[in-house]
Amino acid sequence: MKVPAIKLDPRLKIAFLAIFSLVLFFLFYSISVEPRSYSITRLEIEGAPAKVVFLADLHIRDSNAGYIRSVVEKVNSLDPDIVLISGDFILSNAKDLEHISLLSQLKGRKYAVLGNHDYFSSINLAGSRMKVGEKREANFTVQGYNVSVMDDGLYSQEMGDDVKQRLEEAGFRVLKNEYEVLDVGDKEILLVGLDDCWAGKTHLPPNLPAADYSIYLLHEPECIADWDYNLMLTGHTHGGQIVFPIIGAPQSLFGMYSFSGMLLDEPNKKSYVTRGVGSYPMLFGIADMRFNCPPEIVLING
Ligand SMILES: [Fe+2]
Repeated sequence: MKVPAIKLDPRLKIAFLAIFSLVLFFLFYSISVEPRSYSITRLEIEGAPAKVVFLADLHIRDSNAGYIRSVVEKVNSLDPDIVLISGDFILSNAKDLEHISLLSQLKGRKYAVLGNHDYFSSINLAGSRMKVGEKREANFTVQGYNVSVMDDGLYSQEMGDDVKQRLEEAGFRVLKNEYEVLDVGDKEILLVGLDDCWAGKTHLPPNLPAADYSIYLLHEPECIADWDYNLMLTGHTHGGQIVFPIIGAPQSLFGMYSFSGMLLDEPNKKSYVTRGVGSYPMLFGIADMRFNCPPEIVLING
């Protein structure tokens, strides 16, 4: 029996073809181009030290090691005095630890804090949604700051310790609720590094000394309190990775934060969330994807 051919209105055919082409373009561009097309954001911040490079969310693994190597070369070409990285060095696999040694090539004084992926804390969608609930029970005020409720025991202290050790071998000082006073020219810069919030570990070190300028590093921007900092540097959101014009980031539909850029912009108090360098894989975990949200290297006063 002959199946009758379906006759489509030519305008409908063109519409189908246009939508199909758009989807193909979106998939090609967001998988093959944008995840490796970093941009450099130059921040001019009065009072902050010069030649500071800030990165986050490298998520180093086999599939992006070559790309991370190119980022390291780019950062070195910016001749940084200080390199700050606010967490998520790995993604979800202990074998990726070996790639952290790539960062030994970075020039400058190097400081880091750990992120939730470094502790394997809530690194899937279900875990992330669980954190949304736990966060409601935490106290983010300066006086009563307490995120211990986020310590649900579902993370790996061993992995966090291993990441820290690899970073130290690569020349980093890893700050876990600790501070360091850096001499930069004739100024003293207070650098405070806060441990991961999703693992319930963040608290401010006591008796912080006065300094000419203070920079705080933390992984999750949602865990910031109104502390007495000049510049807060966070990551974690990846800016949403996929950001459609008008609609925004689908990630926010799951209650997850997708903001990036200047969160707070007062004359002596700024808070910046980077889109990050790496990406987490989408399409059921098979491909890094970014759209309208390229990876970012942040250069402060450089
Ligand atoms: Fe991340």
